[in-house]
Amino acid sequence: MITIAIAKGRLQESALSLLARAGIRLSEDGLNSRRLALMDETRQFRFIFVKPADVPVYVEHGIADCGVVGRDVLLETQADLLLPLDLGIARCRMVVAAADAEAMTKVQGMIRVATKYAQIARAHFGARGIPVEIIQLSGSVELAPALGLADVIVDLVETGRTLRENGLTVVDEIAESTGRLVVNRASYQLKSEEVGQLVDRINKIL
Ligand code: PRP
Repeated sequence: MITIAIAKGRLQESALSLLARAGIRLSEDGLNSRRLALMDETRQFRFIFVKPADVPVYVEHGIADCGVVGRDVLLETQADLLLPLDLGIARCRMVVAAADAEAMTKVQGMIRVATKYAQIARAHFGARGIPVEIIQLSGSVELAPALGLADVIVDLVETGRTLRENGLTVVDEIAESTGRLVVNRASYQLKSEEVGQLVDRINKIL
């Protein structure tokens, strides 16, 4: 049996429909339930549904053999995982955003950056020699500039609607993100046949 950790939230639906197209399906009952661990119809695959940031944790520790998670999370956590497939789902961009394009030049002293992605933000500004104070938030990051908590934010943009409706504009692009299949290093060796078949089945429909 293969355990697959799925990131709950923005990419869950597209991940499950991609797996269904590859012939790996969950029952309607299971999908409509609140159960966080479900077997697929063939009982060859167990799905566990976890917070995006926890997918690399479960897979790196070998609790899950595979996972589906955004590149944004992988860049942030730097887990030691195999990355056989870009699934092309949940495409979005990691950006720096502020109230206006000149916001950063107006700041006196250290620029305050609010984000859920502290490592990505630190690396981005560090590589440019810009000293920043990182303010770690857990969500609703777009509120921070208007309320005076930060000068800029580093966050994901998909449609751009959240930025727009909170009076923010993109001032720099950091990276593109899509959903990725990740695999535990030991599972790749020890369950090479099953993992290889899973990768092949998904690869065929991409
Ligand atoms: C992400 C991101 C933005 C939003 C962008 O939040 O943090 O808030 O989506 O989408 P848009 O460009 O289409 O408006 P997510 O829903 O992943 O959850 P979060 O609030 O926990 O960050």
